[in-house]
Amino acid sequence: MADRRPYIAGNWKMNKTGFEAEDFVFALLPQISGADRAEVVICAPFTTIANVIDATRGSRIKGAAQNMHEAESGAFTGEISAGMLRDLDVRAVVLGHSERRQYFAETDETLREKLPVALANDLEPIFCVGETEAEREANETEAVLTRQVEIGLADVPADRLGNVVIAYEPVWAIGTGKVATTEIAQQACALIRRLVAKIDADAAERVRILYGGSMKPDNAAELLAQPDIDGGLIGGASLVADDFAKLVAAGDAA
Ligand code: 13P
Repeated sequence: MADRRPYIAGNWKMNKTGFEAEDFVFALLPQISGADRAEVVICAPFTTIANVIDATRGSRIKGAAQNMHEAESGAFTGEISAGMLRDLDVRAVVLGHSERRQYFAETDETLREKLPVALANDLEPIFCVGETEAEREANETEAVLTRQVEIGLADVPADRLGNVVIAYEPVWAIGTGKVATTEIAQQACALIRRLVAKIDADAAERVRILYGGSMKPDNAAELLAQPDIDGGLIGGASLVADDFAKLVAAGDAA
């Protein structure tokens, strides 16, 4: 099996001011400096990305955004382009988080446009997919994940497919404390890898697939031990430096 580098990403969502972001980074850095197996990413609000990037320069932490617009520039009030993110030295971007799909009308078709734009700007897309509770209960999980993955990746150039990071985040597990069982999480991540393999078998071996949804220091090791789970996209537990440091340690040990 390919040795994929573990990927531990904190998604701060709409939390932290610039001062709080710096405070967090200064508390985190000494706790995670002893290893560097896992990639460590902080997905900050637009207003604190510069603070995160300045505070983490020269460290193992990559600064990331939580969204971007697909156009290069233009009359899109309130939006931010990939080029603007690159200008801040941002290296990755969350695309298609379920909160954006649910509250901000993000669609599979928009994501189909956003992924190639991110890659063309050297931003690593952290592409999120996942079913709702109603979809799982109606036995639609496989169909939903297949649709989201196939449409979202449809226009990614073949030679860049391996650079996409995909996060499986079952909507019912986000912020609820209801973590998916390792079996459910592994099955979904394995399905996602098979879907990528249908496009390109080599890329499927390289693509990192993350689990997200109530991942915490006490359940991370078991999730990260699954063959198709290469990391985590962490919300609540990424807001506390001591907790996030433990998650990074779990990634380093995976
Ligand atoms: P929680 O870890 O708070 O459940 O959030 C998961 C998530 O949505 C990360 O993007």
